[in-house]
Amino acid sequence: MKAIGYNSYGDIDNLEILEVAEPRPKRSEVIVKIEAVSLNPVDIKKMQGGFKPITNLNKFPIFTACDFSGEITEIGRDVGAFKVGDKVFGMTDILFNGSAAEKIKISQKLISLVPKNIKLHEAAAIPQVANTSLLALRNIASIRKGHKILINGASGGVGSFAIQMAKIYETEITAVTSDRNYEWIKNDFKIDDVVDYTKEDILSSSKKYDIVFDANGNLSFPNASKILSANGIYVTTKNNIYNNIDVAKQLFQRKKSRVVLSGRTSTANLDLFRMWIEDGKIKPVIEKIFSFDQYLDAYNHLKSGRAKGKILLTFN
Ligand SMILES: NC(=O)c1ccc[n+]([C@@H]2O[C@H](COP(=O)([O-])OP(=O)(O)OC[C@H]3O[C@@H](n4cnc5c(N)ncnc54)[C@H](OP(=O)(O)O)[C@@H]3O)[C@@H](O)[C@H]2O)c1
Repeated sequence: MKAIGYNSYGDIDNLEILEVAEPRPKRSEVIVKIEAVSLNPVDIKKMQGGFKPITNLNKFPIFTACDFSGEITEIGRDVGAFKVGDKVFGMTDILFNGSAAEKIKISQKLISLVPKNIKLHEAAAIPQVANTSLLALRNIASIRKGHKILINGASGGVGSFAIQMAKIYETEITAVTSDRNYEWIKNDFKIDDVVDYTKEDILSSSKKYDIVFDANGNLSFPNASKILSANGIYVTTKNNIYNNIDVAKQLFQRKKSRVVLSGRTSTANLDLFRMWIEDGKIKPVIEKIFSFDQYLDAYNHLKSGRAKGKILLTFN
């Protein structure tokens, strides 16, 4: 079968179409015939060897991507929650092999049934960005009704999910995006307060926020604290040394700084996303769909840092 992956660490031009053996399920795993995968910036970090120090992922080839949707074709003997023929979506653990292959094996604890009201390929757009938003807003920032929340990078994969999630919690949202996405965010997501970062410096705003979610990761805690309320929290997606030092320094202060880490999901989280989608509260945001042999164009587009929602590769 075919997979998209790499035989050594490097950049996206290291990716190739691989001919590999079909997977066999362990006791609590299922085999999924992949319909689509979606791309995330973390795929690039992984292929560059960014997770090498914390994993034994040195057995090549490594398949790229983590998000997927598809149909179960085989189950291990301890699998109870799913059956052959089920349409599922999920996310491979960041520390293990990826999802970009015609078939993958995956633990039954990392998948859920595809929401009934969306197409199978669309479900691949959900897991990583939804999981990141959920961990950042619910688990770390304890989002609740009435909170004033600023979402920076609102048009990206993470941001476009986070603004929809912040609406579910009935918060007062300020979305920060560029001129090219301003009208889209305002009209499609019905966000009243949209700030165009090419025209306005959000850090000079007089408004104070309970939560600043830096989905794009370019603000930093020292800067964001200017617009945080007295007990406000800054959550960033950028896991770097500076942000982790800020986290350590802020442990005993009122304004908090945190880094979200979304390497793994769970069936419980995916079930929640399914429920929100079926209730019409969330929609997957897909900018472009590429066929799997156009993987280089797709990753080049992601690498531009200007994606509008998600980029998909389809295997069918
Ligand atoms: N820590 C974790 O577990 C975790 C998990 C997921 C993602 N991440 C990280 O989170 C970041 C975002 O991921 P993503 O999937 O949302 O990326 P993405 O889909 O590529 O989106 C990037 C978005 O950022 C916006 N942007 C670019 N420059 C900006 C600026 N100066 N101010 C505000 N917005 C700006 C772009 O919008 P415009 O074109 O309008 O500028 C684009 O829509 C990446 O760095 C990724 O590595 C971390």
